[in-house]
Amino acid sequence: MPVDEIMTEQTIVNQIDAKPVPTLPDAQTVTSVKHWTDYLFSFRVSRPASLRFRSGEFVMIGLLGDPDPKTGKQKPLLRAYSIASPSWDEELEFYSIKVQDGPLTSRLQHIQPGDQIILRPKPVGTLVHDALLPGKRLWLFATGTGFAPFASLLREPETYENFEQVIVTHTTREVAELEYSRSLIEDIQNDEMMHELIGKENLAKIVYYPTTTREQSPKMGRITKLLQDGTVFADLGIDGINVETDRGMVCGSLDFNKDIKEILEGFGLEEGANSDPKHYVVEKAFVG
Ligand code: A2P
Repeated sequence: MPVDEIMTEQTIVNQIDAKPVPTLPDAQTVTSVKHWTDYLFSFRVSRPASLRFRSGEFVMIGLLGDPDPKTGKQKPLLRAYSIASPSWDEELEFYSIKVQDGPLTSRLQHIQPGDQIILRPKPVGTLVHDALLPGKRLWLFATGTGFAPFASLLREPETYENFEQVIVTHTTREVAELEYSRSLIEDIQNDEMMHELIGKENLAKIVYYPTTTREQSPKMGRITKLLQDGTVFADLGIDGINVETDRGMVCGSLDFNKDIKEILEGFGLEEGANSDPKHYVVEKAFVG
């Protein structure tokens, strides 16, 4: 091998060694990570001092992608993630699936406290109180990790100021996938700080209605079917969904969102937006 080639290689190695670790653009530091199942995890990161958001909104987060084979440049690999923590929290929480061959989550699932992620500080979204007309009963309909924005809204005092009852439906394939929502609701209902902030009587407004579709649990079946055949209403002792009193927020797969939308419209509810508040809202960015 020619000497100059060896020297060039050596020089490159030395340069890499000497360089400080590059700081990511819009970097935030991971503070904790919790793995719920082999394919679900949640994590918390530092919050930029300037970031203001409304509970229920989402931001783009991610990591640097692999270096381009030609230029060596690394582009950010970003996805929309609902913020699972409430607007008053000093950190930000996220709830994610792990897809083994997913471009982002195959790597994101390995983050550890102290690592950095990219967070674009531009929150947006439709699952916000501003997009709903006043009502008595709020329905939060989620499948899988679609529960994330509701983890934010359930810790938001405004949710209880606006509604007399908050019904949370969460449908998953297996029982273990319900653990994040189940424990979050149990924890907030038993937490002293949450009692002070929201009020114990307000937290008692939560009605949790978990269902599974592929593993035995106390309530089996898709929430769509259980709404259509009246099981939910019979279980909860209510007449049904009424445009005068009921409001809804929907977050799940595209098919789920479409099916719930049809059911809610069948009860006479209309879809709202930030600029035009109505009876229910659907998260458009969520695809997982
Ligand atoms: P099912 O097991 O009958 O498909 P996934 O893991 O595919 O994202 O689904 C999460 C949960 O949401 C599963 O329990 C799944 O039920 C349910 N689900 C998927 N699509 C719909 C839909 N269109 N309506 C109601 N529930 C749905």
